[in-house]
This record gives sequence, structure tokens and C-alpha cells, in this order.
Amino acid sequence: MAASVAPPRDPNTVSNYNCWRTKHNVADLAIDFDKQRLHGSVTLELESITDKASEEIILDTSFVDVRKISINGTKVTSWELKERSEPYGSPLFIAIPGGQAKGAVLSVKIDLSTTNECTALQWFSPAQTSNGKFPYMFSQCQAIHSRSIFPCQDTPDVKSTYDFRIRSPLHVVASGLSRGTSSFVHGKDGEAGTLLYSFFQEIPMPSYLFAIASGDIATASIGPRSLVSTGPEELAAAKWEMEDDTEKYINIAEDIIFEYQWTQYNVLVLPPSFPYGGMENPVFTFATPTIVSGDRKNIDVIAHELSHSWSGNLVSNASWEHFWLNEGWTTYLERRIQAAVYGEPHRDFSAIIGWKALADSVDGFGHDHEFTKLVMDLKGKDPDDSFSSIPYEKGFHFLYYLEKLVGKSTWDKFIPHYFRKWARKSLDSYEFKDTLLDFFSSDKDASAALENVDWDAWFYKPGLPPKPDFDTSMVDKCYSLSKAWEDKDYKPSPSDIEDLSANQIVVLLETIQLHKEPLLPSQSQLLGSTYALTESKNMELTARYLKIGLMAKDETVYKPTAELLGKVGRMKFVRPLYRALAKVDRHLAEKTFKKNLNFYHPICRDMVEKDFQK
Ligand code: BES
Ligand code: ZN
Repeated sequence: MAASVAPPRDPNTVSNYNCWRTKHNVADLAIDFDKQRLHGSVTLELESITDKASEEIILDTSFVDVRKISINGTKVTSWELKERSEPYGSPLFIAIPGGQAKGAVLSVKIDLSTTNECTALQWFSPAQTSNGKFPYMFSQCQAIHSRSIFPCQDTPDVKSTYDFRIRSPLHVVASGLSRGTSSFVHGKDGEAGTLLYSFFQEIPMPSYLFAIASGDIATASIGPRSLVSTGPEELAAAKWEMEDDTEKYINIAEDIIFEYQWTQYNVLVLPPSFPYGGMENPVFTFATPTIVSGDRKNIDVIAHELSHSWSGNLVSNASWEHFWLNEGWTTYLERRIQAAVYGEPHRDFSAIIGWKALADSVDGFGHDHEFTKLVMDLKGKDPDDSFSSIPYEKGFHFLYYLEKLVGKSTWDKFIPHYFRKWARKSLDSYEFKDTLLDFFSSDKDASAALENVDWDAWFYKPGLPPKPDFDTSMVDKCYSLSKAWEDKDYKPSPSDIEDLSANQIVVLLETIQLHKEPLLPSQSQLLGSTYALTESKNMELTARYLKIGLMAKDETVYKPTAELLGKVGRMKFVRPLYRALAKVDRHLAEKTFKKNLNFYHPICRDMVEKDFQK
């Protein structure tokens, strides 16, 4: 009989995590590059947490081949993989006759192999890598893809410590601290020549932060507690890009919050198909190679992923419905770091770029859409479908608004309090609200100010939040130049942009995208040639320029767009470009997608496919 307990607050897991809690996870996995599989076992230490003992353990799985289960060392046969339901996968039921007393811990070992349908892993043959010498693989588990590597309680509301024992013929990186030298594995069939890479994670973390990568990976130092790892040929450039700023960013974040907790902050620069700008895997941020632009101008991604070490990794959203607690806080901290390094106007400058992304996302979903709310209802939904700039930017604006309401120096005392109180835990938006009101209850002015907050509107009102008065000092010139381009006869000159930074040109291009009428094809060409956008190595510029060209039906950008779509898999660039290309040449868009199917990560493939169906 199932115990009667409240349903979990995370609707995107089918696990009964309100009956059992994962305390520790030992992932013992071999990487088989030939079969493109991981195989081995996970051992979950599961604690019974209810008075009325639950007689079954239910875990999330998706396309995992479960082979054998033992509990406390004894093989059991009373388990079943239930029928798959989208998007959550096939629940794994393990019977626990009689249940277990509250507080008892079972060690559940599950032998498994991943399958071809695994959505978390991307595999590369040697020919698909930059130097063509060795195969490569990496994982991307956020939001709910861990369950396609191993059965688990795949919810950010559950945190556990980890041991990684990964066998591979090639170097391995993981979201844990290395236990030092790897030892040789003897004798196992087909595994001659593999090494055992051991890591541990002592800070409890949610399943979505489990991460591994393996391949021809070289490593260099970028700071006193930081390494960068990437392909040997790419190492020098990656090191140069980050060595000046990484430790600086860590120090600033520590000043704002408190000491960095994860010992090392390292960065793995991935192959170009990596579907995100960055992923905050503990100890090793995973990053797109597009941040290595040779000008140190695109490492805001590092400030962002580093900030997740507090917001998201130490203090986690309890479910993807409260994703803004991860990303809004992180965007807020990222911009505080930028303001500390480059000056306060940079905070609003970055917020202005963010506002455009926010407005685009709201337009894309529709102003009344559920996914435009700060707190979303995700019951029955795939969190990947709800992903957009909205939790980032609306979340940022909520925090920025609160900061201004109570005053910066008062607000700054709340930041460490919040992160200390919730460290190693998960919370939802209501707990955030309680923590905030509670903290300021002894401060008369602050609590009076906070009475004005319309919590329901901030949490549940769809569409754009109130637009603040930005400090536009860094964008005024971009706006006036964009205005000049409204005149179809405007004669540009390279000197127009002489003293604009790359990010100011980003603002210029985004403002041109907002014109009531698209540019003429001839204007689009003039824009590209006069401002040397056709030659830019900075993907933030190239992608925006190509979009302007597509909007202008400028046929000279169709082919370069298709080419770029075969070179980069970061969804931020890929999805808008496919959408814009499909509008003007659907055939070319579909042909390009088909051609590059194997280049893209499974998540990217899925999302672009869904975009095509809209
Ligand atoms: N955690 C996200 C990436 C993510 C979100 C992966 C949801 C899967 C599901 C990461 O921290 C992120 O926000 N990356 C941004 C970086 C940017 C805001 C600087 C990205 O990928 O563009
Ligand atoms: Zn983030």
C-alpha cells in the first residue's frame, strides 16, 4: 500500500521523492565510444522519510536500459519499468515489501546502459572533432535529462553528494573534484587501456548538475583556483581569453555574497555543437567555444556561470516552475560583477540588451502565455519548452526593483543572508518572499517600502514587467545611428561605429531589428560591408547581422546563414536563425537542418524540430 503523503512540489518528476530521499549517488560508469553508450551502475543511498513507510521506490528514467537491481547487496526481481509517457519517461518501480522505518537508508544498486535515444549525451566520431584524432562525448542534463543517463530522483528539490567512477580511454572531466591520479583498470573485456577517473562532490547537488565529458582534452591554468580544459589545439586561445578575468570575477562575487564553496572554478570549452552558452556544472563550467572570440569580449558567460555557484548550485530552485530563482538571481549577480569591473553604467547597458531579449521572448510566446509568467505552471509540460529569456530578465528586473525599493546598501545585506540561509537547500518563490519579508521586518523603512510590492502581479501576471528608466548613456549613440538607418538613402561610413564597443554594435543591430520596416536588401548589404559585419569573428554580431539580412530578404545572406548553421549548435543563435531563414526560404532551412542533424546535440535537434512545426 502506498503511503499517503502530500504530492511533491515538483510536477516534472514522477519519482516519489516525498517518501524517499537520495542522500548519496555513486555513478560507476564506463564510456564505450564504439557503441556510443555509458554502461555500469549507479548506487543510490535512499532514505525513507515518511512515518508511514512507503512500499515502493519510484525513480525517473528515460530510454535507459535497466539490467539488474540489488538492494543492500542482494539481487531483487520485484521491479518494473512502466510504460513511457511524454515528456517524463518510464517510471521505474521497485517494490519494498513492508517498507522501511523512517530514517532507514537503503543502498539501491542499478546496473544499466544508456541507449541511442539518450537525450543527455552527444557523441562524436574522430572525424567530427576539430583535430580528427579521437572520439569525444559530453553530457548536458539540465533540465530533466539526467534520467536518460541513470534512474534517479530527477528533481532539483532533491540534493545528494556524489562519487564519480568513470572509466574511459580518454581524459575525463566531471562536476566533482578529482581524487587525483587515475588508476589503471586491469583485465575487463574490451576495456584494456582505459583508466579510472575518480571524482567526488561533497556539497549536495541536484541531479541536473551531474556532468561528464571525455575526449582529447588538454588543460591549462587560468588562475589560482581555476583551470581551462579544451582540445589541445584550442587551449592557448581559450587560456588567453579567460586568464585575466576569472579570478577577478570570483573575488567580486565573494565580496558581494560570501566565499566560493566549490574549491575550484574550472571551465571546459566544448565543441561548437554545445547547445548553450554555458552550463554551470559544479567545479567545471561547460562553455560554448563561441566565447573564445579573441577579444575577451564574450566572457560575460563566465561571470554568469560562476554566479550560479551561489544561485542555482548552492541555493537551488525547488522546481522548474521557480526557475527565475536560478536564472534571475544569476543574471542579477552577473550584472553586479560587470558593474564592479567596468563601471555602474554597464549594469543598465547589459539590462538594456536583456530587455530586448525579454521583449522578443514575450512576443514569441504571446503576451498572455503561461511561460511569460515569473512563476509558471509546468504540470504536464516539458521544461525545455518553457525555456526563454523571461525567467532571466523578469527575474533580474524583480530583484533590481527590490534593490531600488529598499536601497542598495540595505539590499546588499540581504544577499549573503539569503544565500547562507538556503545554502545546500532548494526553495520556491514563496519561501523567497517569506525570507525577504522576514529579513527586513526589523527595518522600518525597508518594510514600509516592501508593502508596495504587488507580489501577485510579479509572480503571476503574464507579459512584460514595468520597464524601468534605464541609464541610457551607453546606448544613446546606438539609438541615433539606428534611427539614421530608417532613411533608405542613408550613406553609412566605417567611422559611424569607430568608437562603439562590440556590445554597443549589438545594441545598434538589435534596434535596427526593431524598425517598423525591414531594411532594403541593398541597405542590408551596405550595413554588412561598411561595418565589416560580414567578416566578424564575433558570433553575437554575425548572428544579429544575418537576422537583419534575412528580415530584409537580402539573398546574399542566405548561404552564409546556412553555412553558419552547420558550424555552431548554440541554440541562442541556431533557433532564431532557423526561424528567420524558414520565413524567407523554408526549403533551404529544412535542407540545412537535415544536413546538420548529426552535428546538433539531441536537445537542439528536438527544439528546432518543434520550432519547424509551429
Ligand atoms: N543554466 C543555463 C543553461 C540552461 C538552462 C541549460 C536551462 C538547460 C536548461 C546557463 O546558466 C545559462 O543561462 N546559459 C546562458 C548564458 C548567458 C545567459 C550568459 C546561455 O546559454 O546563453
Ligand atoms: Zn544561467
